Amino acid sequence: MPRSTWKPCRDAIRIAPSLLAADFGQIAKAAHDLEGSGAERIHIDVMDGVFVPNFTFGTDTVRVLRRATSLPLEVHLMIVNPDAHLGTFATAGADAITVHYEVCPNLHRTLSTIRGLDCRSGAAINPSTPASMLDDVLESCDLALVMTIDPGFGGQSLIPRMLHKVESIRREVSRQGLDTEIEVDGGVDATNAKACVDAGADVLVAGTAVFRHQGGPQGGVAALRQALTETGVQ
Ligand code: DX5
Ligand code: ZN
Repeated sequence: MPRSTWKPCRDAIRIAPSLLAADFGQIAKAAHDLEGSGAERIHIDVMDGVFVPNFTFGTDTVRVLRRATSLPLEVHLMIVNPDAHLGTFATAGADAITVHYEVCPNLHRTLSTIRGLDCRSGAAINPSTPASMLDDVLESCDLALVMTIDPGFGGQSLIPRMLHKVESIRREVSRQGLDTEIEVDGGVDATNAKACVDAGADVLVAGTAVFRHQGGPQGGVAALRQALTETGVQ
């Protein structure tokens, strides 16, 4: 299966629905139904019960999802020792792979390996990790992910203080003249989407706000988009 087209993210705010909040019994359908919803990519949360106290998807699920949709798949690895599994996730169909700073002692090498697998490279930081920990690897990052909750579960509330970290990373990305995307993940909804974008985010991950929306996932994506439009963002 050819890799899906990954459009660069400088012209508009991107919405990445997280399948963590979808019906796991119909996960392929959920991914398929996002096509035409206005979402630009699909966020897949992989958890190992060690780095976070929860389990979710593995490479077989990514393979199934790759067949179900032509939207780009970004795989967020919340696992220890991600280096051991990068090749498997790339082969399964990931377009982007994000690893956590907290479990990557050789983060520069890990990010280079991801790019070498023909995937976009992402680095994530937990709420207790300072933004500056990414400064020296930003040029190896296609995506810097700021966790706005402690990872492991959907449905939590965004921690407002995390938006300061988005601001600092945005400043650093500009200072270094990079085109690294900045993504926020956790508790993002129509009430805080503008604040995330104002802080400097260009990709919004949203699970609950998309899949638990009364209008279904299409309605959830539209509501986020509407919140940005109404407030003058795009
Ligand atoms: C949590 C995951 C998030 C999660 C967000 O560890 O990384 O992607 O799905 O879910 P909501 O949007 O419900 O906070
Ligand atoms: Zn995530």
